[in-house]
Amino acid sequence: MRLFSRVEAIEAFPLADFGGHDKPTLAQNESAFAPSPAALEAGRAALARAALYPDPDWNELRSAIAETLGVERGLVLCGAGSMDLISCVVRAYSGPGDEILASAYTYLFVASTAAQAGATYVQVPEDDFAVSVDRLIDAVTPATRIIFLCNPGNPTGTRIGNAEIVRLRASLPAGVLLVVDQAYGEFDDQDPRPVFQLVNEGNTVVLRTLSKAYGLAGLRVGWGLFPADVGREVRKIVNSNNVTGVALAMATAALQDRAYVSDVVRRTAAIRDRLAGRLRDAGLEVPSSFTNFVLVRFSGEAEAVLADERLRAGGLIARKVAGYGLRDCLRITIGREEEMVRVGQILGGLRGESGAI
Ligand SMILES: Cc1ncc(COP(=O)(O)O)c(C=O)c1O
Repeated sequence: MRLFSRVEAIEAFPLADFGGHDKPTLAQNESAFAPSPAALEAGRAALARAALYPDPDWNELRSAIAETLGVERGLVLCGAGSMDLISCVVRAYSGPGDEILASAYTYLFVASTAAQAGATYVQVPEDDFAVSVDRLIDAVTPATRIIFLCNPGNPTGTRIGNAEIVRLRASLPAGVLLVVDQAYGEFDDQDPRPVFQLVNEGNTVVLRTLSKAYGLAGLRVGWGLFPADVGREVRKIVNSNNVTGVALAMATAALQDRAYVSDVVRRTAAIRDRLAGRLRDAGLEVPSSFTNFVLVRFSGEAEAVLADERLRAGGLIARKVAGYGLRDCLRITIGREEEMVRVGQILGGLRGESGAI
């Protein structure tokens, strides 16, 4: 059967390998907490309407986003997870001969969508696991069409300040689309408004998801703020009816339950900071995280492999990040306190015996 050579040349997006482990892992940055009870209730009610197609205009969800985050409703598009919107924006705004610039440690799915579009994915080094705006600006060429910025970053967990993002936008040619992926934005303690505001100035897109702080990864709901003209073009390639009725109802209720999400964020951050403290006390390097995971750097690849094995033996599945070139690191999602205490004990003990490594 005839296949486009470009498709043949694409490597499949690597799916996480949990070695047959069928319990929640520490590998996908899912929430350690159940979704809001109000969201669960809304989901049960929406199931009764499963015979009907969902609202293709996402009206209630858009209103909830606008009301709770103070953004303009008409600029919001919704996706089956933010992956859906990443893929649509990359396909709409880049193609063969174009470059997509991203910091070295940016969500790898972007590289995969760049390949689908036939665009060249260019990675720019970071300084000590922090995005360098100066390096990104220096790397822009006439072929650059999109700059993709994950803030906070994955897999580093670090973030740059709003003022740096504003400076980046101001330094870019008007024809370069800046996409700011804020999948972990709820865990960032910065005011989101200065970045949302960039969308009103044109040529900047901000993406968010219900998969992390809201605990709805299994439902697949993401959304983005798009300048009106960009949103109009992206909308042409978004599948209509892309978000199910149950997902729309649950996401709407979850967004409206502000007290619940704030509590999840606060509790997750407290568990994260205790884990990071324990790991640093054991001599491991852990960059400051503004997400629901930590990156842990070991003395070398051998120690990282041993750490992964020991965690797995204890039923704890962390994420290898060799795909980012970080062979000496593991990324660990923040789970329940009991699990994180065990992670601390296993990794702390390892350091005690690392004379062998
Ligand atoms: C930085 C970042 N962006 C986007 C996503 C995709 O999230 P989803 O498609 O579940 O909204 C993830 C998922 O891990 C992520 O880490």
